[in-house]
Amino acid sequence: MPPRIAPEDPQWWLDDVETAYAWLRAEDPVHRWRDGHWVVATYDEIREISRDPARFSSAKGVLVNDPKRVPDPPVAMAASILELDPPEHPRYRKIVSRAFTPRAVGRLEPRIRELSRQVFDAAPADEDLDFVDHIAAPLPLLVIAELLGMQGVSQAQFRAWSDETIKAADAGHADMEILGEFVHFLAEAIAEHRARPRDDILQLIVDAEVDGERLSDGELIVFCMSLLVAGNETTRNLVSGGTVALAEHPDQRTWFAESPAERAAHAVEEMLRWVTPIKAFARTATGDTELAGRAIAAGDYVVLLYASGNRDASAFGPTADRFDITRPPDPAHLAFGFGGHLCLGAGLARLEAKIVFEELLTRFPGYEVTGEPVRLQSTLINGVERLPTVLTVGAAEAERA
Ligand code: HEM
Repeated sequence: MPPRIAPEDPQWWLDDVETAYAWLRAEDPVHRWRDGHWVVATYDEIREISRDPARFSSAKGVLVNDPKRVPDPPVAMAASILELDPPEHPRYRKIVSRAFTPRAVGRLEPRIRELSRQVFDAAPADEDLDFVDHIAAPLPLLVIAELLGMQGVSQAQFRAWSDETIKAADAGHADMEILGEFVHFLAEAIAEHRARPRDDILQLIVDAEVDGERLSDGELIVFCMSLLVAGNETTRNLVSGGTVALAEHPDQRTWFAESPAERAAHAVEEMLRWVTPIKAFARTATGDTELAGRAIAAGDYVVLLYASGNRDASAFGPTADRFDITRPPDPAHLAFGFGGHLCLGAGLARLEAKIVFEELLTRFPGYEVTGEPVRLQSTLINGVERLPTVLTVGAAEAERA
């Protein structure tokens, strides 16, 4: 019997979704799960859609539950960069792209290392702690807040705003009062940057012109929100998911810990494939079209199951369903999407994760996950809310030292 396919239900993604992915890939890779709504489970088809914005547009929403978000909540005061198609999309992307070039990201390395050390220094060793609260959440928050130029707000406050924005991805779940505070804070930060220019990403956005015009306040707020949230929950869950995966594969963890600096970049690439922190984004068919032999009608909503594409044996071979940090980097995984909207912060996320895992495996190669990870209920983020952990050097490692 075919498994239940219900991507609009956050719980569906937590119940044996891997079985559903495997069935879809084998039996019906481009599957109509209800009228006008499709899921796409295979690597090649996800790439085909992502590279063709003329045929598959982002303008009608990219979140699984966007079709349900009527009327729009206050966060949708303007289209985000994620929801733009050419020719507008590259014009907006260009505003901030210079802050994310390999060279610009490379310059951040010393500061990210410093912040990472502070985060680890603040975490108690050899006692029960929540790895998400102490390690995985703080670093990406500190980095993106600093890059954007957000001052005078606590890490806890930022996290609350960011978490609530993610909840807004699923209709009816978010606290609009908290989101209102976030919008108010951003409006003030924008006003301060207009009054006293600074050297940060928010200034790039405030000063930018598209077709000779400055961005409206609504556009500025949505742009900031997208960057803050995109640069935050995603990297957090790459780190927490990667930490779980390594704990579940002790031989790979030992191999990684033998030479963390040398092996981290490679390991992080496999963690990205394995965890796939963004489970899915969507597109809308702009006209009647065909995909893998299926007739898709104009206006149909097509959900790209990145996490399934990242387990597709036709791309990753017979070991696609195994975690292997020695896997070759080619073919590239889909964790950052593909095509024109390819994640702008990919280099930054890779660098942050690389630094965190170098630090973790150098200081605490024997860390223990001491309880079941509490999974986040979301149609967007493959997340861990709580991860009971003890940061410890580990008996074998302590003896060797
Ligand atoms: C592990 C971490 C991350 C993952 C898995 C991830 C994933 C993604 C994915 C799948 C997309 C494609 C959207 C689409 O095709 O519709 C995307 C776009 C984007 N990401 Fe990331 N992201 C991560 C980290 C970051 C960071 C650190 C930033 C920094 C600010 C960032 C900023 C963005 C932006 C601005 C876009 C939109 C690009 C565009 O529409 O042109 N992301 N990300």
